[in-house]
Amino acid sequence: MASHDPGAPGPLRLLVCGPAAGTDLGLPFSAADGRPLAVVDLRGHEDFGALALTAARCDAAVAVTDADHGLDDSLRRTLEVVRLAGLRQLQLLVDGEPSAGLSEKFAEMSGALDFDASSSTASARDASAGLGTWLSGLSSIDPAADGPLRFVVSQTPSPEMMSGLVLLGAARTGDRIASVETGRASAIAAVEADGRDRARAVAGETVTLRLEGSVGAVAGDVLAAAGDRPETCDQFAADLLWLGPEPLLPGRAYRIEIGTRQVAGSVTRIKHRIAGPGAPPVAAGTLRAGDRGRVNLSLAQPVAFEPFRRNRALGTLAVVDAQSGRATGVGTIDFALRRAANIHRQAVDVSKAARAAAKAQRPALLWFTGLSGAGKSTIANLVEKRLFALGHHTYLLDGDNVRHGLNRDLGFTAADRVENIRRVAETAKLMVDAGLITLASFISPFRAERQLARDLLAEGEFVEVFVDAPLGVVEARDPKGLYAQARAGRIPNFTGIDSPYEAPAAPELHLETHRRSADELADEVVVYLDRAGFLDAGDR
Ligand code: ADX
Repeated sequence: MASHDPGAPGPLRLLVCGPAAGTDLGLPFSAADGRPLAVVDLRGHEDFGALALTAARCDAAVAVTDADHGLDDSLRRTLEVVRLAGLRQLQLLVDGEPSAGLSEKFAEMSGALDFDASSSTASARDASAGLGTWLSGLSSIDPAADGPLRFVVSQTPSPEMMSGLVLLGAARTGDRIASVETGRASAIAAVEADGRDRARAVAGETVTLRLEGSVGAVAGDVLAAAGDRPETCDQFAADLLWLGPEPLLPGRAYRIEIGTRQVAGSVTRIKHRIAGPGAPPVAAGTLRAGDRGRVNLSLAQPVAFEPFRRNRALGTLAVVDAQSGRATGVGTIDFALRRAANIHRQAVDVSKAARAAAKAQRPALLWFTGLSGAGKSTIANLVEKRLFALGHHTYLLDGDNVRHGLNRDLGFTAADRVENIRRVAETAKLMVDAGLITLASFISPFRAERQLARDLLAEGEFVEVFVDAPLGVVEARDPKGLYAQARAGRIPNFTGIDSPYEAPAAPELHLETHRRSADELADEVVVYLDRAGFLDAGDR
């Protein structure tokens, strides 16, 4: 039986945000009703992903600005992200003298973002006094009453001891709980905080749960009320606010953060763009900075989640650019798409290792990247001939050929190139699985997609070959006459002319075709494969 002791009231979780870092706000330790304040201060923090995920664990927000920043675009975007993460109660504090008209402008801005009307301005130097009335108005917020227990594990001092944070609901002695990841259930034997036993812990509190038996959970896992658990899934419908600076490209590999997890994933489809509150949705092929849209997301592995309307903490996500590490979008999960759950992988008896051993080789994907005319296809072709002569089993995927078949529906916009490489990478993966030494020759101008191809394969299987020659050289070669046409404006989005090429930072092989002959460079590739053990029977 759960304890009927209501226990102490949970903390009011206050997010402090805005540009004006540094000033000590002198915030009170508790709200007027005696509830403790748990303050998370993200002032001066520029990562909107962390802001969204943190805001999703808070109850109300205080934005702090000063005379220099006022209500600038960055503050507006900060507030937009905070509102998206579900916070409604907002108070503005101004450090120094508020400029004329600031209150009116703030009322307009917060109203447009649909914040609760209790927002008003108060001086940051007297935050305690200024916030008092506002804080007491928040006493009706009770995160403990919001739903069933969700607890994120941060440490496991022993298999039965789970230290972590209550995200939602309450943990009481005697309650049945289960690990979302392992599915195993047990009961809470004790709730401990600061070395003392407690009747319960509620949302916003960091405690240690002593369980009656192990549930096999590790750091990062979620414990939940046994009778009401979140799902795990790898495909979602979500609403995104795109932050940029680059536009959203469907199919591109991003890192997706949900709850405590960070996994590889991509947007598989943009269903539509949302032009504004109440406006009808608009068809869109991409989202640009500031756009909102409804999308489908696909993750490399399932994660524990909940629809945002049910649980903000496990329903908010950040889309992180894998190269820069910066959040390029934030969003909220609408519902799980059941597709992945119903398409089980078919287990096969003849394994990849068996197929490779029968061919007396270790499969690999040789990925030739470089400008058009750099010599990718020429060298790939020579390498394949040499391997074939040595009795190896190979296949060459080439941009010009694949674009006549599998990818005949794709052009050369950034979005189409991303999709071109995604399909080629998946195809190449199947060929590697078949045991083949696979060669792929594509401009593949973007690092993110080459990384995606690398991530699809096992460690060591992906060999990036940068076929390099300066633009001046390839333009002078112009084997297909395409550079001349691109310069004349007849081919838009031509790589190197009006579409970028992102050179590999650390390719396994760097071949400079303006310095050495194609034959010499093909030999170098074969020598590399031999030394790396790809040409053996796999027994060394
Ligand atoms: S990729 O960028 O998507 O990897 P891919 O390697 O498949 O390109 O195709 C490149 C080939 O398409 C070039 O060798 C060239 O013959 C041709 N091509 C036609 N239009 C373009 C363009 N705008 N940019 C680059 N190559 C183009």
